[in-house]
Amino acid sequence: MVEKVENSKEDNNQNQVDINHVEVEKNTQTRKDFIKLSVISLVGFITVLLGWPVIEYLIKPFYRSKKIPYIKTSDFNTIKIGIPTKLGFNIIHKSGFLKQTKYEDVWVIKHSKNRATVFSPICPHLGCRYNWDPLKNEFMCPCHGSIFSINGKVLGGPAPRPLDTLPHKIENGKLYVKWERFVVGIPEKELET
Ligand code: FES
Repeated sequence: MVEKVENSKEDNNQNQVDINHVEVEKNTQTRKDFIKLSVISLVGFITVLLGWPVIEYLIKPFYRSKKIPYIKTSDFNTIKIGIPTKLGFNIIHKSGFLKQTKYEDVWVIKHSKNRATVFSPICPHLGCRYNWDPLKNEFMCPCHGSIFSINGKVLGGPAPRPLDTLPHKIENGKLYVKWERFVVGIPEKELET
């Protein structure tokens, strides 16, 4: 009888040791998981931090363009289809507390009553204003002789890229344009900062 009681005590002790062992293992595992998670978070954070300039470079034009408002130009219905037409409008430029109204224009080629191409009037070579030559059916830049087709394609001269198109929309017969400026002198169409 005494021996049985002794055995039962030993079993209890062994069980307690097992339970303690499991607890210790559990704690060790939790600590390992925590360290693993911390390392992963840290690596992720550093990756985002180092890659941020690239991410910013890629998404900035999109957000900048989104922030630029549409400006109402003139009555789209009065523009003749297929003939490049210069449309002017006033833009309010804000710089700190200063507001300045500036006159700008764009070239519009109307394709149908609800479709058009809008070109920035600024030559992508070095920023002069080009003109439409109705006799030659070409856009010509007076500064260094770049020539563009009615579709904006470079036909001659030093221009490094086609004419820059501008975002626009046609609503209730009115044409709205986003006045954007692009870096000149480079082959890519890149928004000015
Ligand atoms: S600025 Fe137009 S060709 Fe140079």
